[in-house]
This record gives sequence, structure tokens and C-alpha cells, in this order.
Amino acid sequence: MIVDKLFEVLSEEQIATFLNQGILVVPNVLSQEEVTEALSGLYETLASHGVEAHNLEETGKHLQQLSSTGGSGGVLDLFYAEWKFKISTNSKLFHLTSQLWKAAYCYQGETKEQLHTEQFKWHPYGAFNPTQGYAYIDRVGYRIPTRLAERLGTISKKNKHIPIQRSLTPHLDCCPENPFPMNSKWRPIQCFVSLTDNTEPNTGGFEAAPGFHREFATWAAHRPPTLVTRKGGETLALPAPCVGEYTHIRPREDAAVLQRVQHIPVTAGSAVLWDNRIPHANAYRHDGTEPRVVVYTSFLPDVAINRQYARQQLEHIRRGRNPPSSGGLWMNPSETTESDVKQSNSSILSEDKLTELQRRLLAIDD
Ligand SMILES: [Fe+2]
Repeated sequence: MIVDKLFEVLSEEQIATFLNQGILVVPNVLSQEEVTEALSGLYETLASHGVEAHNLEETGKHLQQLSSTGGSGGVLDLFYAEWKFKISTNSKLFHLTSQLWKAAYCYQGETKEQLHTEQFKWHPYGAFNPTQGYAYIDRVGYRIPTRLAERLGTISKKNKHIPIQRSLTPHLDCCPENPFPMNSKWRPIQCFVSLTDNTEPNTGGFEAAPGFHREFATWAAHRPPTLVTRKGGETLALPAPCVGEYTHIRPREDAAVLQRVQHIPVTAGSAVLWDNRIPHANAYRHDGTEPRVVVYTSFLPDVAINRQYARQQLEHIRRGRNPPSSGGLWMNPSETTESDVKQSNSSILSEDKLTELQRRLLAIDD
């Protein structure tokens, strides 16, 4: 179909890479001009919170109030700003995600058995149209160099030095024992768009375990318990944890998984897409000199649970509340309350200025 052809932005080779590795880096999703525009938008947003991007030594301490993660991963609670909506509803980004949905997940209501050797494509959400979906509004990653984070840090009551930011260690944003929840959302592909080059390891960038999505089901079924040794020497076997939808990859019990996590080089303007069964992290250290900047942004396929999520998300945007699952990374989504309303969300959507696609992606129009 001619219409379909227009939407094909990925080559067969890129699709094959995603199917095999579960990770795909797509360069030049944003042009150099778009990257520059987004960065100045971000600097303006940061400045409204007292953070001057060109004077982090003196103003970087204000980053702390933008982080509900306690500085983990340099992730900031910045959800709504015009420059950010522009990236989250970027048509190229949506069409390439849509192409991957079509290739990597069943969408005609197939049963697991019908998929034979490709059972990793299965999900319980039924048939869906892969050319439609919703924008999932997420946070911003602004990871400052480790030395600067240490200088801006504080000393705890126990005399321990706490840097203002640290890494986000390898994890999954889903629960292995329940990878297809029926009460939140289904986000098969996670994604960020990078606004800076991040080609070297140990510079605060993305790390992931390629190919793990194909082994995920077997691994999840045999995940070893967490072993805790009590004072008296007695060893307890506790169920492997998942908090909200966050699963920590444990250094001891999951050592084999950790060994597979590697740096993924990215240039400014690239989109990085990964299957949500891929363990991922950002680097333990950032030994570079400039902040690493990414916009976390992805899409949700048009299935019932996501239609509900998108409607709820729109309601939150209109009321200036953080997105419905914004607490999900660190706490149970149901714990998100009215107290989440923050100054950071002062720039809310101008709905009348949006294109038809943007309105559909944000669930404003059916
Ligand atoms: Fe994550």
C-alpha cells in the first residue's frame, strides 16, 4: 500500500537488528537544527528552576529538587514543555516505532503456539493496528560529570559523602513474573532521543544486554531467589524482587546477566529503541566533561489498556499533574497523588496549535 510505504523509515537490516538484538540505534531522527532547538528549550526550562547550564558549578545544586529519584541516572522530573512535546510527538519517531511494533510483536490476535519459534513476539493484549498509538510522556535525562556531581554533593549525618547524581544500575522496567500487567500500560518498546553525542563508555551513557528479550521468558521462569544471610548464620531465600514495575538486576544472583550489559554508542539526534525485556542501565561513571542529555519518550500501541492510559495521561496533562505512571519507576503507580503537582509542569500543552497526528498521539482526538 502506498500509505504504508510512506511510513517505512527503517531498512530491512535495521528491523532484523531489532528482532535479533532487541535494541536499535537510529541516527539522525532529529536534525542538527532540531537538536540545537531542543537543547535551548531544555536550557530555558532548567533556568526556570535556577539551573544555568553554562554555570553548573554554581547552580547545579538546584538539580536536586528536580529529581524524585534521589539523583539516580541524572533523571529529572521534567515532563511537559513545548520543546519536549515536539520530540514526543515527532512523526518520524512514531513511524519507526510503528514499523518495529509490526515486525516484532504479534498484532493479529495470534496464540503463542501459532508463533512457533518466535514466541517472544507474543503478548496477551490481542489484535491491534500497528500504525496507530499514543505518546508516552516521560522524563529527561541530564547526567552531569561524576566529579562535578561529587563537588555538588552533600555530607550525610553519618559523615558519608553523597554525590548529587549517580548512575542507574542495570534494571528492567517490568516485572519478570508479570511482564504483561493488566492494570497499567503495555509499552513493548522503550526509547530515548539523545541530544548529545555519547560514543565512549563510562560517560554516563546507555548500556544494555543485546538479545536478552529472546531468553527473557526462560530466565524469568528460573530466576533464582535472593539469598540473605542472617546474623546467626542462617540463610534465607527471598523471592526475587520487583518494586512497582522496576526490577533491579542483582550483582550476585543475576551476575550472568550483568556480564552481558555493554555500552551502546549514540550520536546526538539518534533515537535508541529497546524491547522492554532488555536489561539496561546508564554508566556507573561519567568521566566526560559535558552533561549527557536525553529525552526519554516512547509510544504505546493502540490496545484497550493503553487507550485508557492515554486518556488518563491527557487528563493529567490538562490538570498539570505528573503523568499517571511517573511514580512507577520508583514506587507503586497507585501511590502517585495530587502532591505530584509541581512547578516543573508550568508549561502545559497548547492544544489548538497541534497537528492532526499530535492530537491523535495525545488522545485528544480519537
Ligand atoms: Fe529503565
